[in-house]
Amino acid sequence: MKIVITGGAGFLGRRLAIRLLEKGSLTDSAGHVRIISEILLVDVVAPEGMSDPRLRILTGDVSDIELLRQAIDGATTSVFHLAAVVSGQAELDFDLGMRINLDASRQLLEICRSLGHKPKVVFTSSVAVYGGKLPEVVQDSTALNPQSSYGAQKAIAELLLNDFSRRGFVDGRVLRLPTISVRPGKPNKAASSFASGIIREPLQGQETVCPVSPDLRLWLQSPRKAIDSLIAGHDLPGSAFGNNRTINLPGISVSVGEMVAALEKVAGQSATQHIRWEPDPLVQRIVGSWPGCWDTSRATALGFAGDADFESIVRAFIEDDLSATNA
Ligand SMILES: NC(=O)c1ccc[n+]([C@@H]2O[C@H](COP(=O)([O-])OP(=O)(O)OC[C@H]3O[C@@H](n4cnc5c(N)ncnc54)[C@H](O)[C@@H]3O)[C@@H](O)[C@H]2O)c1
Repeated sequence: MKIVITGGAGFLGRRLAIRLLEKGSLTDSAGHVRIISEILLVDVVAPEGMSDPRLRILTGDVSDIELLRQAIDGATTSVFHLAAVVSGQAELDFDLGMRINLDASRQLLEICRSLGHKPKVVFTSSVAVYGGKLPEVVQDSTALNPQSSYGAQKAIAELLLNDFSRRGFVDGRVLRLPTISVRPGKPNKAASSFASGIIREPLQGQETVCPVSPDLRLWLQSPRKAIDSLIAGHDLPGSAFGNNRTINLPGISVSVGEMVAALEKVAGQSATQHIRWEPDPLVQRIVGSWPGCWDTSRATALGFAGDADFESIVRAFIEDDLSATNA
């Protein structure tokens, strides 16, 4: 079984590849558990420090159709399409966001369609597809109303994946990820980058800026649960989704103030004193337009699981990443 992961050098792509190599098998469209013989990571940058005889790396741009044709061939059973320009960058550069988040996604689906064997395609969408005046708790039936170009690009790609699945061209699944926290490494250009920075930097004794108010409510998931969800979403039979291939994944609803309180409980005031509160209207506007709480009963019924609370997410970050981040 050949698996392609676009964005395979990124935060989630790399972790997914490592987990799949450990797991060794996945369930195909016919419901058969199959041994993973090859994982191809496609990314503009080469992933570092990964080696396994089953791993192959293809460096290039997913908006290059020839590169995609080279990556996704008749042997490809499943594609995890994770490559994307993040929210802040897509807002600053409209054309880039459209090219990578939308045009490349459609091209990828067309290539999968041309294979003729209906590969599984897992697409990572986002809370950013919602916005405007929202109910307290977002339901599956809540209308999509993105307030950023990134959210609009994700929403259109979601619909494409649903229609390609309805037509029988691919066996698609769209997983709307909560904001993933805590992300290791350096800050990135996502508008939600602070949701990791306000935990990660203080735990390393470094200054960080929180650009939003403490009462802003976020919908969060840990990296561990995000990877569990990608694999569970892949392995479910297509029939489990009915006529809607899009799932709101379980997260936890937590305010920025509660996140800082959890950090203080785990690491004390010596950590939280490193947070400087400096409002940034653009970040507040983008992230403030995302819903802070979702009804995820459909996902739960399908077997997806969220985190217990934010404190356990902080502890998991210390366990899984902090030593690596400091190394
Ligand atoms: N991390 C989150 O909080 C979060 C939340 C919701 C949705 N998502 C989605 O999950 C997916 C993975 O997110 P992530 O956090 O790992 O992001 P990331 O930025 O760490 O990884 C994305 C990867 O895509 C690659 N990429 C960007 N443009 C490319 C191009 N033109 N061609 C090939 N590769 C390209 C980047 O180099 C990067 O390695 C994305 O689709 C993102 O929109 C993430």
